[in-house]
Amino acid sequence: MNANFHKSTVYQIYPKSFRDTTGSGVGDLNGVTEKLDYIAGLGVDYIWLTPFFPSPQVDNGYDVADYCDVDPRFGTMADLERLIAEAGRRGIGLMLDMVFNHTSDEHIWFQKALQGEQKYLDYYLFRPGKGPGLPPNDWDNTVAPGSAWEYVPHLDLWYLHLYDKKQPDLNWDNPAVREELKNVIRFWMGKGIRGFRFDVLNQTSKAEGLPDDGENPGKNGKRFYTDGPHIHEYIQDLVRDTGLDKLVTVGEMASTSLAHCQRYSNPKNKELSMVFSFHHMKADYRENSKWKLMPFSMRYLKDTLTEWQLGMQEAGAWNAVFWCNHDQPRVVSRYGDDGKYWAESAKMLAMAKQLLRGTPYIYQGEELGMTNVKNYDDISDFNDTETLQNYDALIRAGSTPAEALEVMHQRSRDNARTPMQWNGGRNAGFSDGEHPWLKVNANYETINAARQVDDPDSILAFYRALVALRKEYDVISDGSFEPYLHEREDVFAYFRRLGGKTLLVVCNFYGAETEVPAPEAGAEYRLLLANYADTPADRFPARLRPYEAVAYWVE
Ligand code: GLC
Repeated sequence: MNANFHKSTVYQIYPKSFRDTTGSGVGDLNGVTEKLDYIAGLGVDYIWLTPFFPSPQVDNGYDVADYCDVDPRFGTMADLERLIAEAGRRGIGLMLDMVFNHTSDEHIWFQKALQGEQKYLDYYLFRPGKGPGLPPNDWDNTVAPGSAWEYVPHLDLWYLHLYDKKQPDLNWDNPAVREELKNVIRFWMGKGIRGFRFDVLNQTSKAEGLPDDGENPGKNGKRFYTDGPHIHEYIQDLVRDTGLDKLVTVGEMASTSLAHCQRYSNPKNKELSMVFSFHHMKADYRENSKWKLMPFSMRYLKDTLTEWQLGMQEAGAWNAVFWCNHDQPRVVSRYGDDGKYWAESAKMLAMAKQLLRGTPYIYQGEELGMTNVKNYDDISDFNDTETLQNYDALIRAGSTPAEALEVMHQRSRDNARTPMQWNGGRNAGFSDGEHPWLKVNANYETINAARQVDDPDSILAFYRALVALRKEYDVISDGSFEPYLHEREDVFAYFRRLGGKTLLVVCNFYGAETEVPAPEAGAEYRLLLANYADTPADRFPARLRPYEAVAYWVE
């Protein structure tokens, strides 16, 4: 199979932080249109736009109040149609973000449910409590410590919300709900949308009877709603009835398993083109907790990436490969070095990811080496609901404000959401207004697009080269993955092979030189790409310099 999306690269845009054309301080759809030439310059095939639908913005648009409209703060439907058309002219398709596990509590369906209309009560998961003040079961909320249930006094019922209490979960077991969601997809397909990303899709099917968990304090319930009993059936149904299989689709799969992802993205099952899994983004979680700091473990990172590369390949399934998105702190600050070896490590991480088996995703600013924020001096500088709730939880558990702030400097989702750094001017060129909705990262004068766009040695230029190579060489888009030097804890190395061609990728993940053996003594090595200017073109170097990354043809 040589599916088109194997050669594609997706560029993810968080419109709120991309480009503000009105001076409101909030990015907008016209801002995306304005920057299309920059995006096209990267060579990407799709833009995944995170939600711009009408929303109270409790979770920055992942709390959707109307799936088929544009929030006025981001523009109009006409702006969106122009963006679709202008992107299309440049050969770029738009992928929209479908947040179908939950709606906003301000969605008309939930409002009608609150008015006691039975039809809409059945759209959500309303249940009686176990007794006065006692929720229906012991499931924990996924955002912050506490129950996943909220009590509605005038109904004397509780409703389930795995996320914020303003994000009630939909009842996917109700066929009427699934029909409504199919209509949303049909609506957007009618507008010329070319793909979809499905938010936390694998949490939509809940175990029958919503049983108590009891065994996983802090994570109670997870096993009852992760890759739940009807999930494959529901996805197949959604795809079949909408014709989604003609588009590119990616499911966000939270805390999922390899076995399920092998099924979600196996073309034979007619579910999704590909899946996001997150295990490799937990290499710096101590005790598997996002809020406990630890330098990243290379052993864990390599084991996880390798297991997923091999496992998905064996099953004929397909990964979406990524380091960054709007929920992840910046990778150069996590698995790279955002100080001395900033450019080298940003390029190394680019190569390590972009040449893997799977469809690569680039999150806005990643191609410039944007870093975590250091200039948020007070918790009031942060906006993200998850950040604010967990800051409070850390303080309640005994952390000092300084300690809790340090955790957020490393783990807050706002690290990814700071305004895009276009240039060294006012608000980094993000907005001409007085107040960007989120503070600009202080390093915008050195890290910005204007400085890199014409520089052939820039991180941006390196990304462009990698995107183009995937289009040029089938061995990159469709070759097999085979680990090399798996036992080593300083380099990540792999072969890609197809039809007698072999590409070798070796990435030094540390700021120290290291020796690396050439895999085949008699072979000839021809350089394809490296992140240092003077890497030998026709022999494999015996030593890799700090954060050096090389890709050689082995002949
Ligand atoms: C996904 C989104 C995240 C959001 C959550 C709830 O994980 O990427 O931003 O908060 O779902 O919708």
